[in-house]
Amino acid sequence: MEIAGGVVGLQVRWARFRSRVTAITRVAITRAVSRALGHCELSHLPRRPIDLALARRQHEAYEQALRELGCEVRQLAEQPDQPDSVFVEDTAIVLDEVAVITRPGAVSRRGEVASMAEALSGLRELARIEAPGTLDGGDVLRLGRVLYVGTSARSNAEGIAQLARALTPFGYRVEATPLHDCLHLKSAVTQVAEDRLLLNPAWIEARQFPGWKTVAVDPAEAHAANALRVGSAVIHPASCPRTARALRELGIDVRSVDMSETEKAEGGVTCCSVILEA
Ligand code: GLY
Repeated sequence: MEIAGGVVGLQVRWARFRSRVTAITRVAITRAVSRALGHCELSHLPRRPIDLALARRQHEAYEQALRELGCEVRQLAEQPDQPDSVFVEDTAIVLDEVAVITRPGAVSRRGEVASMAEALSGLRELARIEAPGTLDGGDVLRLGRVLYVGTSARSNAEGIAQLARALTPFGYRVEATPLHDCLHLKSAVTQVAEDRLLLNPAWIEARQFPGWKTVAVDPAEAHAANALRVGSAVIHPASCPRTARALRELGIDVRSVDMSETEKAEGGVTCCSVILEA
């Protein structure tokens, strides 16, 4: 189609230019692996030596998998004194309308939030969980307009109530969700397709998510329920090949990444990024 000249032509060209420069970008915020990772918090796992160089290589491969799924990776600077800081998911809940900066349940992790708030400040309005509330992002599973929040050792009733107060005005519902024997809600259950959840029935029950189809992890792979959905694909730990096979048999595009070192720090694939549209 020919573009008219004069003022109208300029307006059309400006509108096209503006739509190009305001195109939506899928951003993945990550953080460089802390040199202190070996001193991480552990709740359900014994402490094992972590190979820091390998952890960093694996994290690079994870970031590459995010890029291959269309993400622009924005890596925050290493926090040498914050062992768990690679697990950025726990510091913020980001929705289209607002980002909620958390107050992590582990006291040792509270120093992680300020730099995440700074990274998000130009992208979203910010709300904050305040004392005595505690909330870890790993406990928050968003399914449409419902946010299921694990009542874990990290997220308390006050933190969950504050999250509900922050999000109700935007039309979200917050559901406190019991779980047991694992660190976070997303250790036990994640979304792997438009209509399906992947869960570990030893840690949470399918009936807690009415209306959703579910698939259970392979019984030999307790930690397989933590999958990171990016678009229509999922990033999944290479340590859980049986569950990955079951997901592929359901037609799901599974990208396996080796996370052996962050797994020793009780972190999974969702933990290492915060994904949003910018
Ligand atoms: N090591 C991960 C966490 O405890 O938060």
